[in-house]
Amino acid sequence: MEEIDKEKLPHHIAIIMDGNGRWAKKKSLNRISGHIKGVNAVREVVTACRELGIKVLTLYAFSIENWKRPADEVRALMELLKEYLKKEGDEMVQNNIRLNAIGRLDDLPPDVLTTLRETIGKTKPCDGMILNLALSYGGRSEILHAVQGVLFDLQKGKIKLEEMTVPRFHEYLWTHGLPDPDLLIRTSGEFRISNFLLWQIAYTELYVTDTLWPDFDRKELLKAIADYQSRERRFGLTSEQLNGREE
Ligand code: IPE
Ligand code: IPE
Ligand code: MG
Repeated sequence: MEEIDKEKLPHHIAIIMDGNGRWAKKKSLNRISGHIKGVNAVREVVTACRELGIKVLTLYAFSIENWKRPADEVRALMELLKEYLKKEGDEMVQNNIRLNAIGRLDDLPPDVLTTLRETIGKTKPCDGMILNLALSYGGRSEILHAVQGVLFDLQKGKIKLEEMTVPRFHEYLWTHGLPDPDLLIRTSGEFRISNFLLWQIAYTELYVTDTLWPDFDRKELLKAIADYQSRERRFGLTSEQLNGREE
């Protein structure tokens, strides 16, 4: 088992859960079977993060671009999402997990949106961990939406141009109130961001594993955290500055 330092845990972990289709193909199953197995991995990783004491976990569950997939796959993914929310809501409350969602939520089918809103409402008082689901999410849309919000407030005289700072801008993003991710994990070996959290990952540590999402488990999570803990996050400074050995 990977040794991890409980004092140096990433505060916010974000995951691009990729590879359900390839997992299914390898087993000569249909893509939907891969998504079903992927939900089990979600359960295991959410539980593991809660037990470890991770404060925010963001899961990229469905992108805006994913709407263009075959209609039966989209329908199955939406059904799985609804089922997951219905089944896990009470457990989230028991485990003190607060659900949050980011994305163009109004794009979701009305029954899924209702279940999502109910589960978010039910978990509102929880403060052990935030489970943040990215649904119908796109980083560019998020930034554009934020810019529209800024322009609107500017027009209304609620803010002044010279008052706009990076922290103020963050208040207009869907992730307002959440810290930037410390660690971004992508499963199934692709070295790309696929329109995920474009603004927020400016200084996030990236970790890519070949493991396909349905095979990603607690052990794989610990491996990613251990790798993260071996890095030196410099934020543009020198190593000497960070270690107090500056001349
Ligand atoms: C991730 O797995 C799940 C979603 C994007 C919804 P994929 O379905 O993208 O799996 P691959 O990339 O085809 O293997
Ligand atoms: C990213 O995976 C989106 C999610 C995990 C929800 P994709 O499978 O959609 O990304 P690409 O197509 O490989 O870039
Ligand atoms: Mg994929």
